[in-house]
Amino acid sequence: MNAKALGLAAGAAVGASALWWRKNPSACPYGQRFWIEAPHPFVTRARLREVLALAPGERVLEVGPGTGYYSLHVAGWIAPGQLDIFDLQQEMLDHTMRRAREAGIENIVPSRGDARELAYADRTFDAAYLVTVLGEIPDQEAALRDLARVLRPGGRLVVGELFGDPHWVSPGRLLERAERAGLAFAERSGTPLGYFARFVRR
Ligand SMILES: C[S@@+](CC[C@H](N)C(=O)[O-])C[C@H]1O[C@@H](n2cnc3c(N)ncnc32)[C@H](O)[C@@H]1O
Repeated sequence: MNAKALGLAAGAAVGASALWWRKNPSACPYGQRFWIEAPHPFVTRARLREVLALAPGERVLEVGPGTGYYSLHVAGWIAPGQLDIFDLQQEMLDHTMRRAREAGIENIVPSRGDARELAYADRTFDAAYLVTVLGEIPDQEAALRDLARVLRPGGRLVVGELFGDPHWVSPGRLLERAERAGLAFAERSGTPLGYFARFVRR
């Protein structure tokens, strides 16, 4: 096979695998965590902080923390409040908690489970966020509904998405699903290549 044919075959394989991931939402395996440990362009920590408008003392939920790219910073911003992290994979929670211990951070509480059924009482949180997670969940609307349930009335939900992620959720799709889940759109920040959208629980 010549170089051009090889290139075309590789491109087709990458395209087919991206399509497969889109059609079969599933969690990014712990073994592939190098993707989420790289810098996150457009969906930066500084932009998340601005959109979430956190205040010290708040109780905040992060769904799908991965290896804690945002968690350690958010925990610092809300101290003496509490950050609850919730993930399908125990290895992701253990990894984040190990990093938190090493950094001397004590206000993060982990729980394992599926975002479609959050293990928290109604109206528990002042704010919640999830970044490059929603598209990995097979029933996005169920997850958004349960997020709305655990937010206090007026509580904020921020969803972050990065273009190029095989599980990317477009702003339009997100808006439709969030509205149906009882969340009102408030603001979007970012670029067409990566954005944060803020919603408020009705
Ligand atoms: C692509 S990683 C993003 C990690 C982190 N938010 C970041 O941006 O660095 C997706 C994370 O969501 C978690 N996840 C996927 N589906 C989930 C579900 N149904 N319930 C809870 N967590 C889930 C994965 O285990 C993984 O930790």
